[in-house]
Amino acid sequence: MGSTRALTISGFAGRSVGMSLGMEVAMTEPYYQDDSVTLYHGDCLDVLRELPDASVDSVVTDPPYALEFMGKSWDGWSSPRAFQEWCTAWVTECLRVLKPGGHMLAFGGSRTWHRLASAVEDAGFEIRDSIAWLYGSGFPKSLDVSKAITGTQMGYGGNSGAVRRATMGDAYAESGRQGNRDGAGRRDTGLNAHDLVLTPDAATWQGWGTALKPAFEPIVVGRKPLAGTVAANVLAHGTGALNIDGCRVATDEDRSRPPRTPNAIYGAGRGASITASESNPAGRWPSNVVLDESQAEVLDEQSGVLTSGLMPSGTPKRGKLAGILGEFKPQDSTSATYGDSGGASRFFPTFRYEAKAPTSERPRIPRNVLRLRTDLTPAQVDHVRARLTEAGVQVD
Ligand SMILES: C[S@@+](CC[C@H](N)C(=O)[O-])C[C@H]1O[C@@H](n2cnc3c(N)ncnc32)[C@H](O)[C@@H]1O
Repeated sequence: MGSTRALTISGFAGRSVGMSLGMEVAMTEPYYQDDSVTLYHGDCLDVLRELPDASVDSVVTDPPYALEFMGKSWDGWSSPRAFQEWCTAWVTECLRVLKPGGHMLAFGGSRTWHRLASAVEDAGFEIRDSIAWLYGSGFPKSLDVSKAITGTQMGYGGNSGAVRRATMGDAYAESGRQGNRDGAGRRDTGLNAHDLVLTPDAATWQGWGTALKPAFEPIVVGRKPLAGTVAANVLAHGTGALNIDGCRVATDEDRSRPPRTPNAIYGAGRGASITASESNPAGRWPSNVVLDESQAEVLDEQSGVLTSGLMPSGTPKRGKLAGILGEFKPQDSTSATYGDSGGASRFFPTFRYEAKAPTSERPRIPRNVLRLRTDLTPAQVDHVRARLTEAGVQVD
């Protein structure tokens, strides 16, 4: 996005910026800094309020989705409207700190992103697009209706805890509490147990659930209003446009541009340039659907190897019937496309998904090194380690 200063908002709620009695604002100290990154650790609203107007080129953020993720308090709001109001507050600050034309990418949850998108728009951003990130690692959080009916009819109730209780009897432990792990160390929730005898009513509902497998996360793409035209904005602020060539979907195929052929509508050489993206040797135009590797694999398994045919510009296209729109006249294609082959995933940018960055990719945060006397016994070293840990010191 042509950015030189990008702001990634992350951290945790809780630490606020102090103000002294003289109302002098104490700036948050960077938590980490190197030649390319300055990281602040604090409440996003506190940190954002300290940044000057129009000082940021782009914002990429993965805020809470208001889904009460793993029961975390930072992911819960009293109502969807309250969540939207919180979004509007930080999005408004993002708008202020961005340069004109600066882009914001904000990740959202598939159940709540309409609130996020409305906040982005209400704060004054132009919604430019939404990117669908498709991934394969999600688990459905679905209630088994037949088990819920059985649990209810056995007098335990119909929620997932009650179903576990009905299924596991004496072995029952509340979710997230004690043991009950299987051989691979996974917590045995009991929901997959097959020894729950379904009631006749429940048997009718076998195979019914309440949720789909999550495989998509939306990313709202907003742009701060431009100062003038795109050209004027880009020249004045270095923001406002997308670096398409920097994001092309690479391919091994020869995608060099074929010679242009005269075109029935535009004549030789005209028109084709607008849509000639598919013939760029650097790869395909980046799409608003992106995949992780497992989703790309699934897609390729489904599609098998496909071959797209070569179509030089000027190739006559057949007219086609288009339902209520009537018949389209036959036209010549205005752009050249290349023949290539592969799975369907080759049309989309594919990213490696890592839940957490590997140690090798994490910045090194300077640590205090405590040297112990060399004559300590292993038991004494363990004792020191235990006391330090008790005192809240993280010990490697
Ligand atoms: C959806 S998670 C993002 C996780 C992160 N992208 C990752 O992959 O680890 C939302 C994050 O926002 C943080 N958060 C919640 N409220 C915040 C606030 N007011 N200011 C800054 N960060 C906050 C949470 O601690 C959580 O880490």
